[in-house]
Amino acid sequence: MGIHLKNQSQIAKLREANLIVADVLDTLEGAAKPGMSTWELNEIAARRLKQLKAESAFLGYHDYPAVLCTSVNQVVVHGIPRKDVILKEGDLLSIDFGAYKDGWCGDSARTLPMGRITIEAQALVNATRESLERAIAACLPGNRLGDIGHAIQSYVEPLGYSVVRQFVGHGIGRRMHEEPHVPNFGVKGRGLRLSEGLVVAIEPMINAGGPEVFTEEDGWTAVTKDGSLSAHFEHSVAITENGPVVLSRP
Ligand code: MF3
Ligand code: CO
Repeated sequence: MGIHLKNQSQIAKLREANLIVADVLDTLEGAAKPGMSTWELNEIAARRLKQLKAESAFLGYHDYPAVLCTSVNQVVVHGIPRKDVILKEGDLLSIDFGAYKDGWCGDSARTLPMGRITIEAQALVNATRESLERAIAACLPGNRLGDIGHAIQSYVEPLGYSVVRQFVGHGIGRRMHEEPHVPNFGVKGRGLRLSEGLVVAIEPMINAGGPEVFTEEDGWTAVTKDGSLSAHFEHSVAITENGPVVLSRP
């Protein structure tokens, strides 16, 4: 309980874990193609993770059954890899991956186009990625938690998109989910003061339509209520005296 600030050597350990996550995501990005099942991607991730001598942060987490989340099109987050979900040209695939190395956790996500996608889908991906960059830029000591959410919300809403409220980012360290909650919406200047040594996983989930999400029967798969497309990017970020350090960026 409470907020765990990290010193330089602890941040270095988190960097190692996050570089493993980035390696696995790079591997998946190189492999993901129309015609593949999302289960094949899970196997590729599991194999690479083993080569890198690290452990999954997702497998078994509240009984989650895979090492990877694969969320296609209207799936917002927590899509479970399946043999019968076959990627097709034009799909938006979000991959979310977490790992432990030497007891420290890394967590990151990306949304990938499968072949040629619509201009509308590409615009949503670009906006979601840019909203995360703006949130990262707000990770300065002395800023507030609300500045992070505000950076995301104030960028995507004027573009006609909406911010998912039901899921938020989080502190990260020896455990995947630590305090504080890191909402992707907020009011400038409000909330917890960001201090040196705070490490957060920021993960905007942005919908082309309304913000409402619905969780399917499997207890995991979160989809947009209106069936609109959704995109998701996540980075683990350390707040330091030199500004934000993106631990999950290679
Ligand atoms: N990146 C997500 C998170 O931070 C994924 C975790 S879902 C899991 O919450 F169940 F697969 F672990
Ligand atoms: Co996360």
